[in-house]
Amino acid sequence: MKAAVVRDPFGLENLKIEDVRKPVLENGDVRVKINLAGVNPIDLNIIRNKTLYRMNPVPHIPGSEATGTILEGSKSLKRGERVIIYPRLFDGTCEMCVSGREYMCTHGGLFGVATNGAYCEEVSLPEKNLIPYPKEIGGELAASLSVGGLTAYHGLRRAGAREGQKVLVYGASGNTGIFAVQIAAAMGMEVDAVSSRDWVSEYVNGTAFRSDSDVTGSYDVIVNSLGSVLFAESTKHLAIGGSLVTFGALTGTGSELDIGKLYTRENSVVGSTGGSRSELLDLLKLLRTHKIRIPVEKIFPLDRIHDAMELFQKRSSGRILIRPA
Ligand SMILES: NC(=O)c1ccc[n+]([C@@H]2O[C@H](COP(=O)([O-])OP(=O)(O)OC[C@H]3O[C@@H](n4cnc5c(N)ncnc54)[C@H](OP(=O)(O)O)[C@@H]3O)[C@@H](O)[C@H]2O)c1
Ligand SMILES: [Zn+2]
Repeated sequence: MKAAVVRDPFGLENLKIEDVRKPVLENGDVRVKINLAGVNPIDLNIIRNKTLYRMNPVPHIPGSEATGTILEGSKSLKRGERVIIYPRLFDGTCEMCVSGREYMCTHGGLFGVATNGAYCEEVSLPEKNLIPYPKEIGGELAASLSVGGLTAYHGLRRAGAREGQKVLVYGASGNTGIFAVQIAAAMGMEVDAVSSRDWVSEYVNGTAFRSDSDVTGSYDVIVNSLGSVLFAESTKHLAIGGSLVTFGALTGTGSELDIGKLYTRENSVVGSTGGSRSELLDLLKLLRTHKIRIPVEKIFPLDRIHDAMELFQKRSSGRILIRPA
């Protein structure tokens, strides 16, 4: 089958489309044809070998976010059924798994990082990583749920987000940001955003500010995964008792916070990563009653992976997706 493969020396220039052996079915795994795969910062970081996690195997097929169609090996899902790939690999037995936090499994990892990923025609995965989704959910939205959608949803929950609160989302045009603004609205929150893109205002139920310096209000919840850029600044917009949640460090991991302000105003800075399968099911339920739209800038065939990755870095109007076959 065709796959996008990266090896040492890493870098986008060394990402090649190759003919590789189809994955072998083992230990009750299920064969899945990939329908659509998302491009996220993690994939570009894998290609550049610049992640916080260790990549395995090398040579490596990236791609952590995808949907597919069941081919064979499933006990509970029919051939032809469409599934979302839950991207956290987990053993189901450690303390994290047993407490419902399989995304933190001590023996686990991320699909596409700790294993080969979805930038290929077929994958083989444990049945517990395959979540069927209803036909009403469009293919592009479904392909954006397991990383973009789930991370935003889990992050809001980690921050204690609830109906009636005010939320401010940074990087709102991004893969997670565009979900965060819409999920927060669906949860009954008043949502403002900070974004360099004008079109983001169509997705928020409040104001889309062009810059952090335009923000005047205070917020119960702030979603900010920009990293070093604007991290400390964004904490200044927290209401008394408010929480800032981060699940990424897009522009670097360092930041200098005003500790005095944090404790005297009882603010929380909350870390978040991934999300559970149960939260992914909750998110699918929420989509039944609330319309969430995901702007797509372009869908590329697998053999144009370079163009996809180049455009990902300068995209202006939405998601970049890969259709392997
Ligand atoms: N832990 C997890 O499970 C997890 C999952 C998903 C993502 N992440 C991480 O979370 C972060 C965000 O992910 P994402 O998928 O939303 O990324 P993304 O799609 O690349 O979006 C990031 C957004 O941030 C803004 N931005 C980018 N560069 C900026 C800069 N230098 N200064 C200010 N704003 C900038 C842009 O938004 P505007 O144009 O709207 O300003 C951009 O659309 C990344 O670090 C990613 O690795 C973590
Ligand atoms: Zn575990």
